[in-house]
Amino acid sequence: MHPIFLYIHLMILYIPPMILHIMPSSTMKIAPVFSLLHLLLLLLLLLLPLLASCVEQQVYIVYFGQHSGEKTLNEIEANHHSYLISVKKSEEEAKASLVYSYKNSINGFAAVLAPDEASKLSELEEVVSVIRSLPRKYSLQTTRSWEFVGLEEGEQLHNFVKKDDLLFKSRYGQGVIVGLLDSGVWPESKSFSDKGMGPIPKSWKGICQSDQAFNSSHCNKKLIGARYYLKGYEKYYGSLNTSLDYRSPRDRDGHGTHTASTVGGRRVKNVSALGGFARGTASGGAPLVHLAIYKACWAIPGQEKVDGNTCFAEDMLAAIDDAIADGVNVLSISIVTDEPTFYTHDGIAIGALHAIKKEIVVACSAGNNGPAQSTLSNPAPWIITVGASSVDRAFIAPLVLGNGREFEGQTVTPYKLKERMYPLAYAAQVVAPNVPKNYIAGQCLPNSLSPKKAKGKIVLCLRGNGTRIGKGMEVKRAGGVGFILGNVPATGAEVVVDAHVLPATAVDSDTAIKILKYINSSIRPTAYINSARTVLHRQPAPFMAAFTSRGPNTITPNILKPDITAPGLNILAAWSEASSPTKLSSDHRVVKYNILSGTSMSCPHVGAAAALLKAIHPTWSSAAIRSALITSAGLRNNMKELITDETGNPANSFQYGSGHLRPTKAADPGLVYDATYSDYLLFLCSNGVKNLDPSFKCPKESPSTNNLNYPSLAISKLNGTVTVKRTVTNVGGGKSVYFSRVKPPMGFSVKVSPSILFFKHVGQKKSFTIRVKAENEAEIEGSMGKNEYSFGWYTWTDGVHIVRSPMAVSLA
Ligand SMILES: *[C@@H]1O[C@H](CO)[C@@H](O)[C@H](O)[C@H]1NC(C)=O
Ligand SMILES: *[C@@H]1O[C@H](CO)[C@@H](O)[C@H](O)[C@H]1NC(C)=O
Ligand SMILES: *[C@@H]1O[C@H](CO)[C@@H](O)[C@H](O)[C@H]1NC(C)=O
Ligand SMILES: *[C@@H]1O[C@H](CO)[C@@H](O)[C@H](O)[C@H]1NC(C)=O
Ligand SMILES: *[C@@H]1O[C@H](CO)[C@@H](O)[C@H](O)[C@H]1NC(C)=O
Repeated sequence: MHPIFLYIHLMILYIPPMILHIMPSSTMKIAPVFSLLHLLLLLLLLLLPLLASCVEQQVYIVYFGQHSGEKTLNEIEANHHSYLISVKKSEEEAKASLVYSYKNSINGFAAVLAPDEASKLSELEEVVSVIRSLPRKYSLQTTRSWEFVGLEEGEQLHNFVKKDDLLFKSRYGQGVIVGLLDSGVWPESKSFSDKGMGPIPKSWKGICQSDQAFNSSHCNKKLIGARYYLKGYEKYYGSLNTSLDYRSPRDRDGHGTHTASTVGGRRVKNVSALGGFARGTASGGAPLVHLAIYKACWAIPGQEKVDGNTCFAEDMLAAIDDAIADGVNVLSISIVTDEPTFYTHDGIAIGALHAIKKEIVVACSAGNNGPAQSTLSNPAPWIITVGASSVDRAFIAPLVLGNGREFEGQTVTPYKLKERMYPLAYAAQVVAPNVPKNYIAGQCLPNSLSPKKAKGKIVLCLRGNGTRIGKGMEVKRAGGVGFILGNVPATGAEVVVDAHVLPATAVDSDTAIKILKYINSSIRPTAYINSARTVLHRQPAPFMAAFTSRGPNTITPNILKPDITAPGLNILAAWSEASSPTKLSSDHRVVKYNILSGTSMSCPHVGAAAALLKAIHPTWSSAAIRSALITSAGLRNNMKELITDETGNPANSFQYGSGHLRPTKAADPGLVYDATYSDYLLFLCSNGVKNLDPSFKCPKESPSTNNLNYPSLAISKLNGTVTVKRTVTNVGGGKSVYFSRVKPPMGFSVKVSPSILFFKHVGQKKSFTIRVKAENEAEIEGSMGKNEYSFGWYTWTDGVHIVRSPMAVSLA
């Protein structure tokens, strides 16, 4: 978007609409009488410059794409400076306005600009995009998850007996470097011990940046690099308050420590969350990878940490530019925007594109904005976009009602009730006198409960607005003894466990309704919450988390997103000892491990799996590794039935992409859909971006965006018939024959030709076409309606490998 539009948008946000209506008249008429209205106007006119000075000067990223020709770092910075001089009044002003000069892989700079300066720069031919910086919240909302995706180590792991297992084959990811963009790291965690680790790869060029409570001695052979990026944050919020966050790579939040240890934490025995939950050996997916920490997300002044952190595009771009230059092999980025923009206006997408040029695999969270459709973040086709699903572990805290019925709730609160029945109330019945008794009244929002009515009771609160932890705090504040967190139909069966501040249990929406009915039908309802125990092998698992963001891809509908799902519900991993398990400032508990949920947790699972594949197949491209992960994903749960969503209905590709992560199968995918950096440039040409790389010329006629060699297929608004080309590369056995199979989306016919592919040797490529035709438009519209998608898949199989690609099609 042109920066001027963003500016107008901001103005509208900041100035009450009323003013916009009054403004014109004030310039047309001269006031004969000094009315109240005029007084108001005068006041506004006096205020306007003040308002303008607040909004005018903003950080913008001016992005040039690739560098042209070989230049020294000084020459590049001088070049960036010259652009600033061209719009600023003086050299000093130009110098002072520069925030970052991106010089390594990314060509661009971040600077404080006025909207007209930004729009002047955006008109230059060599400028790909000018992005007004906005604070981004990252999606917030392991022991068991790795076994659950099939990465069991087996009993005799230490003797290396299970020779065919993926961890052994990949030497636990040894030699691979995974970079994380997040809130930093707690280096003292045992998960980051380097005992027995191999040497730091010679190719590594990163640093360990010293500052507040962090110095080079905090890095080791596990944590080989740590840096922080704060300039954009400080331009917006002013100087960092160092009692809110560390001015260093140290993590005061916990999120970054959690994601880093999920990717590459060492095996640590006998760990558990608060109160002994999920006790077992904690391990990252790739326990011998090296980790490089890029802290780009920070505490928001005046907000509780539980409400989220903020990450600025200019800081993230600087972090990614360094990570590429430092030599990471995989980037795991658990950060999403609420409103995705086109790729050349999206800091993560830009950074990832430059990373892909160096064949770095980039995994990103899909977001936590489900269950609504079209809520997905990070949809660029050079990123692996990861949804979240459950694991087969539960923390069962049964709830007993006064009528003798027992329900299965879940919790990881360490607090226990004395064994007896307690009075039970629905929150709406115990609200303070001024709170209307509607649906919202059942949600235990801050200060909504009456201590007089809630005291001594177990209170049922419903999910909806407000944080889950906050609802428990409210019950506690009002003197409640226990708390039941009830799902609503929108959250269905997705039971999220939290370290609540009082005895508690969480139930699915069916159970919540049953409890409500019981409360309604009893004169003196009572209940008791048993303390929780950890239970494994739960069925069904996985199912999709209600919160996982969904397709279709709103930026380029012809790319199917998300790509895959991985464990993201109730995941145990390392934590920052400067935070508390709930992240609330009033909570003073300190824990070494914590249980969290979100696509922030599922993304590092895929990052780790990519690292293992990289260790086994060091020459594979980023696209080949992604293809292997996508085409090997599973569609069935541990009851051998189709994976369901939070409502219990079969889930679809807008929730799980190709299915559930299966790293062991991904290590030997048979065929891959490869793609190079140039293919992505061609894809960008098709989307009207023609000046990103001076060494690449867009063809006169760009191909359809459908023809990017992607391992899945989305066709939006199909009109009649479309034929799409794909190319597979044989990475399995030498001589082989692959047969195609199709499950067409309902109402469409799909023809793959040729339907048999013969390969003579490894590395051989074969192309084929997929023709998709709307067979019965009336029927499709009748059963689904226009713009609704229908799902199917096509596979190639040689009898050993099954290479499956999901497809989603909608009618014009
Ligand atoms: C790093 O900080 C620790 C204290 O946290 C201190 O003991 C150590 O000497 C410091 N190391 C260096 C190299 O400054
Ligand atoms: C910094 O944060 C602390 C803790 O929230 C707060 O008490 C203090 O007032 C803040 N300082 C400034 C300068 O805002
Ligand atoms: C595990 O740790 C707990 C305390 O955290 C301790 O009571 C228990 O004995 C330990 N178990 C083993 C097998 O070391
Ligand atoms: C949350 O609050 C908003 C504003 O009061 C309301 O419109 C919305 O329906 C609420 N959502 C839920 C799930 O209760
Ligand atoms: C409980 O009673 C209230 C009011 O009497 C009613 O609105 C609500 O639908 C009832 N809920 C259930 C689950 O029966």
